[in-house]
Amino acid sequence: MTKAVVLGAAGGIGQPLSLLLKTSPLISELSLYDIVNTPGVAADLSHIDTPAKVEGYLPPDDGLGKALKGADIVVIPAGVPRKPGMTRDDLFKINAGIVRDLATGIAKVAPKAFVLVISNPVNSTVPIVAEVFKQHNVFDPKRIFGVTTLDVVRASTFVAEKIGDLSVAPAVSIPVVGGHSGVTIVPLLSQSSHPLPANLTEDDIKALTNRVQYGGDEVVKAKDGAGSATLSMAYAGAEFAAKLLRAIKGEKGIVAPTFVHLTADEGGKKVQQEIEAPLDFFSARVELGASGVEKILPIGKISSYEQTLLKAAVPELKANIEKGVSFVQAPK
Ligand code: NAD
Ligand code: LMR
Repeated sequence: MTKAVVLGAAGGIGQPLSLLLKTSPLISELSLYDIVNTPGVAADLSHIDTPAKVEGYLPPDDGLGKALKGADIVVIPAGVPRKPGMTRDDLFKINAGIVRDLATGIAKVAPKAFVLVISNPVNSTVPIVAEVFKQHNVFDPKRIFGVTTLDVVRASTFVAEKIGDLSVAPAVSIPVVGGHSGVTIVPLLSQSSHPLPANLTEDDIKALTNRVQYGGDEVVKAKDGAGSATLSMAYAGAEFAAKLLRAIKGEKGIVAPTFVHLTADEGGKKVQQEIEAPLDFFSARVELGASGVEKILPIGKISSYEQTLLKAAVPELKANIEKGVSFVQAPK
């Protein structure tokens, strides 16, 4: 029996993500929480002939507490999305408070749940969840994940396009490390599971890297004020949740990049050495297991261009992490 909860379930990501989770054979109960519309979304999904029992909750009468009761895995896509001209950090003002309050609910009602944070800015919202959990004495770094899977999905797709065969995209694996915003997104194309076309120039590699780093902006611009990536994010979120659920149920050797606290495993120290910075959080390749983070894997051998990308990522990551931490520790 596995209960999954989506916080922000009526939104652009929340609805298709809830749909994908409803189709998962690994979930027996699906609770949807939002400040609007969840009864309708839940009624709609509940007619789908898959095992998960679906319930929708709104804030009155402790809807959040009821949604979270008995949760095994909580996914958070609650919060406002970007409009053209905004950075993810511009969302902090609104989303930091939303994520803090939802994390408080989780810490009180479902402190052992695995928490998957989608709400931006991920580089700051994940530290917010961790700090709230620390305040409630329930912090376990193995159980809190920033979902950076969309960067990985984009890298696979864009590389498959370059290879000239989209049918290989699902098999193309490229680690994307660092964080989830602009320069903090570091795709390691040199570690691609599939050889890149031999005629790719250094400039082509730079353009491809830039496209992964700013893929989110591509969607924001195309949506022209109507929000940011929702469908590809729902897909990516469901993929990561499925990997974690399989790992929790005992499957071995499942690895995915995700933004985690580097004390979650000894391997975090090696990553800190590799990036030559004592960052607390980083999106590293993580082996998932029954207790969440099983192993943090080293970055490994990368090109000198990727070294410069990593160096450029560290100051912004550090600032984003500190902003999240001090929002909870010393609220203004
Ligand atoms: P949206 O506006 O369509 O949906 C957000 C939902 O959150 C709405 O239904 C809203 O009612 C709900 N909400 C707001 N405050 C809430 C609260 N206190 N409790 C519960 N629900 C609340 O936005 P979206 O397009 O679904 O994006 C959601 C978030 O995900 C944004 O912050 C966006 O930047 C982020 N995002 C992250 C990634 C990633 O890769 N991690 C990718 C895409 C989007
Ligand atoms: C993305 O990468 O698509 C998301 O983080 C949403 C955004 O603001 O770009």
